[in-house]
Amino acid sequence: MRMRRKKHCAERIAACAHLLISNPENLMSDPSAPFGVARPLHLEIGCGKGAFVCGLAAARPDVNLIALERVPDVVCLALERAVAESKLRPADNLRFIIGDAQKLGEWLPEKSLECIYLNFSDPWPKKRHAKRRLTHPEFLKIYKRLLIPGGRIIMKTDNAGFFEFSLEQFAAEGFEVVRQTRDLSRSPYAAGNIITEYERAFTVKGVPICMAEVVLKNNPQSPA
Ligand SMILES: C[S@@+](CC[C@H](N)C(=O)[O-])C[C@H]1O[C@@H](n2cnc3c(N)ncnc32)[C@H](O)[C@@H]1O
Repeated sequence: MRMRRKKHCAERIAACAHLLISNPENLMSDPSAPFGVARPLHLEIGCGKGAFVCGLAAARPDVNLIALERVPDVVCLALERAVAESKLRPADNLRFIIGDAQKLGEWLPEKSLECIYLNFSDPWPKKRHAKRRLTHPEFLKIYKRLLIPGGRIIMKTDNAGFFEFSLEQFAAEGFEVVRQTRDLSRSPYAAGNIITEYERAFTVKGVPICMAEVVLKNNPQSPA
């Protein structure tokens, strides 16, 4: 997400420090520590300005949610939204990490995640940039280590080419599709859908949204 530099970004982030995981490597010993309560852990990668993750945290007090975003100017807005909407959350279940998804394997223990959300991830259409796609096999291998058996990835995108690429990679890495649509708002899955910032912009323009939910069925690293 490109964005003009925010004024006083560092100070504004510091004002929301209670929602920030500033040493994510400490999660390795106890991923529920920042929340004070153990609940199933969900992760959004590339949370942007936080509309989705704030909505989800309010709707799902039964889970702990980590929102990961690598652009500090963007996280700043997401954090401020999370603070402004804190009264809407029945549980204190939302935290943020500023950083890159490539590092997830250094931060989270194996089999710690129940669900990963990939909302409108950058499609990186050029072949030479394919490794940057968040559904590239190298990322999927990281997610497979971190997901519990039966763990899920839920992706949404406006980009049909990126969607097809992702479905192929999911299948190749042993994920099974349990829900998919190429027009989310006209599908049975529209009910309960939490809309992201990008999704709202595309939907206003009449662009259909693709959605897939995939499950890691036979995690070879899970105990027998
Ligand atoms: C197109 S925006 C979508 C934002 C939001 N999810 C939405 O749907 O409105 C993609 C976001 O993912 C972030 N992002 C891309 N690659 C990332 C990575 N490797 N690690 C963390 N964040 C990433 C970008 O900085 C950007 O804010």
